[in-house]
Amino acid sequence: MAIGELHVRISGLTKRFGERLVLDDISLEFRPGETVALLGPSGGGKSTLLRCINGLNSFDAGEIQVGPHVLRPGKNGNRAAVASVRRLFGMIFQDFQLFPHLSALQNVIEAPTRVLRLHRNIAVERGVRLLTGVGLARHLHSMPQQLSGGQKQRVAIARALAMEPRGLLCDEITSALDPELKSEVLNDLQELKGQGLTLILVTHEIGFARRATDRVVVLCDGRILEDGSPAEVLDNPRSERLRAFLQRVMV
Ligand SMILES: Nc1ncnc2c1ncn2[C@@H]1O[C@H](COP(=O)(O)OP(=O)(O)OP(=O)(O)O)[C@@H](O)[C@H]1O
Ligand SMILES: [Mg+2]
Repeated sequence: MAIGELHVRISGLTKRFGERLVLDDISLEFRPGETVALLGPSGGGKSTLLRCINGLNSFDAGEIQVGPHVLRPGKNGNRAAVASVRRLFGMIFQDFQLFPHLSALQNVIEAPTRVLRLHRNIAVERGVRLLTGVGLARHLHSMPQQLSGGQKQRVAIARALAMEPRGLLCDEITSALDPELKSEVLNDLQELKGQGLTLILVTHEIGFARRATDRVVVLCDGRILEDGSPAEVLDNPRSERLRAFLQRVMV
């Protein structure tokens, strides 16, 4: 496997919060360049799965392999692997998590200058290009509180891309947005898919999942309920549980 190739192999992943089993022996692979929608009822473990891949949550059993890096159970010993995984995979959240005291451009150049030790001029050049790419050329120096939700989310996307990741983990990144802004952010994602990034998207946008992803994985009560092409999973759900869920989210 080439260094940095973003093949993800999850095997036997088990995660408990106290007594509660939240991920129950999950095995799953993501191929480089694949766009996968992760769907399922609230509390099913979607966010926890993304957070485990990105090393934000520890886990109790199993293994997560991202390219050449392996995350193992427990809190200790993963530090180097977590740092490497985060270089490969950016993560974007529903609530943006921008630094409130930094402008859009400062948000975007912060990690490249501090973590990658990129020269400031080069980071600024990259930041301007990325913010321009998501339609924010006129907002380089705006502070987060001066931006709309959609604009903030696009700063968050540019910030993740500034680390030149090979993939993105996106946790309901359009959930807090109005329909018009939602479609702008979804267009950005589609463009990234075109650029060959591996995209793992927790989403309730069934239309987008059907149109723009290669694969849909349904997570329910910590287990994989269904996994297949959007047409297989969304148009011909095998389980009653998924049928009921789809009916609820599509109204
Ligand atoms: N830090 C935590 N401490 C204790 N329990 C947690 C913690 N984070 C998540 N959980 C529990 O783990 C389960 C899975 O949560 P998770 O956030 O992964 O679900 P989800 O599928 O992302 O749901 P949603 O669609 O509502 O975002 C839930 O029962 C939740 O209450
Ligand atoms: Mg969640």
